[in-house]
Amino acid sequence: MKQTPETIVLLNFVCEDIQKAARLVRDSGIYTMVMPYTTPVDRVMQEKPVGLIVCADQGVPAREADLNRFKAMGLPLLELTITKDNLAVQAEKAIAFCKEKCGCHCLWKLENFIDEAVADIRAQVGDQKVVLGLSGGVDSSVVAALIHKAIGKQLTCVFVNHGLLRKNEPEMVQKVFAKTFDMNLCYIDASDRFLDKLAGVSDPEKKRKIIGKEFIDVFAEAAAKINAPFLGQGTIYPDILESIPMDGNPNGVIKSHHNVGGLPPDLKFKLVEPVERLFKDEVRKVGRMLGLPSELIDRHPFPGPSLGVRHVGAIDRVTLKMLREADAIVTEELLKSGWYHKTWQTFAIFVPVKTVGMKNHARTYEYVIAIRSINSVDAVTAQVVRLPWELLETMASRIIAEVDGVNRVVYDITQKPPGTIEWE
Ligand code: XMP
Repeated sequence: MKQTPETIVLLNFVCEDIQKAARLVRDSGIYTMVMPYTTPVDRVMQEKPVGLIVCADQGVPAREADLNRFKAMGLPLLELTITKDNLAVQAEKAIAFCKEKCGCHCLWKLENFIDEAVADIRAQVGDQKVVLGLSGGVDSSVVAALIHKAIGKQLTCVFVNHGLLRKNEPEMVQKVFAKTFDMNLCYIDASDRFLDKLAGVSDPEKKRKIIGKEFIDVFAEAAAKINAPFLGQGTIYPDILESIPMDGNPNGVIKSHHNVGGLPPDLKFKLVEPVERLFKDEVRKVGRMLGLPSELIDRHPFPGPSLGVRHVGAIDRVTLKMLREADAIVTEELLKSGWYHKTWQTFAIFVPVKTVGMKNHARTYEYVIAIRSINSVDAVTAQVVRLPWELLETMASRIIAEVDGVNRVVYDITQKPPGTIEWE
């Protein structure tokens, strides 16, 4: 993708907070990229940087040979030791360096990004078709809006309802994309196909594999009919950065680049990845500028296997409905109380355990719903949120009163680690 001529490359000499530093510098209108210290000089030069910033958690004498390779490039170079405590101060130093030593004009703006991205997409795609798997999540939604802005009806979005979506989600996605944006939206209700395959399967990994495989099959069938040479993807910059091994050692990879990894190699698409250089909050800003509603853009992260990993054990339609209803109550009360945007993720879990209780003066023997609310910065660790007791009580009494088959609500107070955020 064409970028501003004034690129600054941050060289990662093992610096945990380098993405945050890169992000802070961008706020001053200076376009930054992050590359590992092992990157060949030629590769760095391809980006035509006007300056280099060497970032490390500690002083870098151990990698002096690599440092010297970059010094020999003859570009202005700044060495920074960045820790959590001095991040803001070091970012200020970096910005001053970019302006004073590298001559940056601070003109990089997301508004310009949209114009550039639209031009790039048009140049890449010409008059051909693009297919895009729309999940209803932030990244694929923003990419859909961006590609649509560029090529309109040449884009077809495929939205697969696998039966594990949250309440009203299929309706919301159809309303936003098919009605408001007037996109070509291929909506596939494959609920029965997924739920039939999942029947009786209680092992979490097997469930995930079934959902993943079925998803690819359904998407591939739909994409084949559309017959598009291009595939749009919601890959974002952290997906790429976290899939680059710091030392050329694949064990150092935080997570593999799941967007590309999932599709079978015989689907020979050319990829359109217009937000692959943006950080998550920049993607959200672009989404807002393109007119996507807050209920899509500011949503909590939601796992690909959806309610499937929040319904512990084998999924059947009756208990899945209990979870969906309970989850909708949790979200509704969270929004009403103003707590939704104060938490990273808050959701309901179906627990396949029956306990004794009382409803309308009669003995009940029904299921348990758990509520989990966590805060996190990167989902690698997570802290339990102390939601107000009154809010939890409201959620619990509504769930017990309104969700048939549930007579008990519990609150999960497990941090990550040792717990994971999702239950499966
Ligand atoms: P865990 O449960 O591993 O979750 O602590 C960490 C974060 O990742 C999300 N998550 C997923 N996201 N596909 C996704 O796209 C998945 O299979 C998946 N599993 C977990 C989870 O919601 C949390 O934000």
